[in-house]
Amino acid sequence: MSKILLIGSINMDLVVVATRRAHPGETIFGEQFHIIPGGKGANQAVAAARLGADVHLVGAVGNDQLGKQAFTNLQAEGVNTNHIQVLSDVSTGTAHITVAEGDNTIIVVPAANEKVSPNQVDSVRSLIQDSDIVLLQLEIPIETIEYIVDLCTEFHVPVILNPAPAQKLPLALLEKVTYLTPNEHEVKILFPHETIEQLLKRYPKKLLVTEGVEGVRYDDGENLIHVPAVKVKATDTTGAGDTFNGALAVGLSRGMELKEAICFANLAAGISVTKLGAQGGMPTLEQLHQLQGEINEKSWN
Ligand code: RIB
Ligand code: NA
Repeated sequence: MSKILLIGSINMDLVVVATRRAHPGETIFGEQFHIIPGGKGANQAVAAARLGADVHLVGAVGNDQLGKQAFTNLQAEGVNTNHIQVLSDVSTGTAHITVAEGDNTIIVVPAANEKVSPNQVDSVRSLIQDSDIVLLQLEIPIETIEYIVDLCTEFHVPVILNPAPAQKLPLALLEKVTYLTPNEHEVKILFPHETIEQLLKRYPKKLLVTEGVEGVRYDDGENLIHVPAVKVKATDTTGAGDTFNGALAVGLSRGMELKEAICFANLAAGISVTKLGAQGGMPTLEQLHQLQGEINEKSWN
């Protein structure tokens, strides 16, 4: 079984489904409200665990009701929670999400996630060393991310950095990671002065730009490659990127070629958007293989 280590955020998502968004100063009625597990670290951990990987998540929650819910969910999903801290002086991270007009807007309050420190990372050095791949996002402090990436470099453990939510990062950090997986918006914030084509050429087999329904672009060292997304009817695109990254880590850690791993991850992300919630809709390996079979059949008919 491939061993995947996530060091990242754990949130509870407070989701409102409405027909449209409220304007500033306006009050409108929504249609549904859900409190469901989220956070990019936890989401990517669940995505990888559903696809059969051995997953550890290192992070922090508050000693509160939402933290308990997040924790219970991770355990039910088979994610190893031994290195999740329960902190008493801070609340669990939350994300305030509106799903409307076929898209989502999110405000994240990091809370406990801000406490994931280089010190906590030091306590899992051997876990890092034992992992096939480490997967990171940007909902914990950047100094912690830098610390982890340096350890991965020292231990020769490949590391995927999903630079979400979008923010500027030191070039030295970007250069050190094995894979960088921004979406088209995040890549412009990371590298404001270059075109995507220039960047793909500069970082072959490393920079994977995800473009939602357009699929994924990267450079294989010779050519620019475009891997199309699967066509599905989307209910909620929240967590599609997380599903992609979790599945990509699974594919790569199982020794798939990069292109194969991207196809695998695209398929998982496509399935995930058919259900509400970041984790709702993330496929198991069986569900993924079933859809793959259906797609292959269609392309023959
Ligand atoms: O990527 C989706 C996630 O971003 C949500 O689950 C929310 O918690 C925010 O962190
Ligand atoms: Na979903």
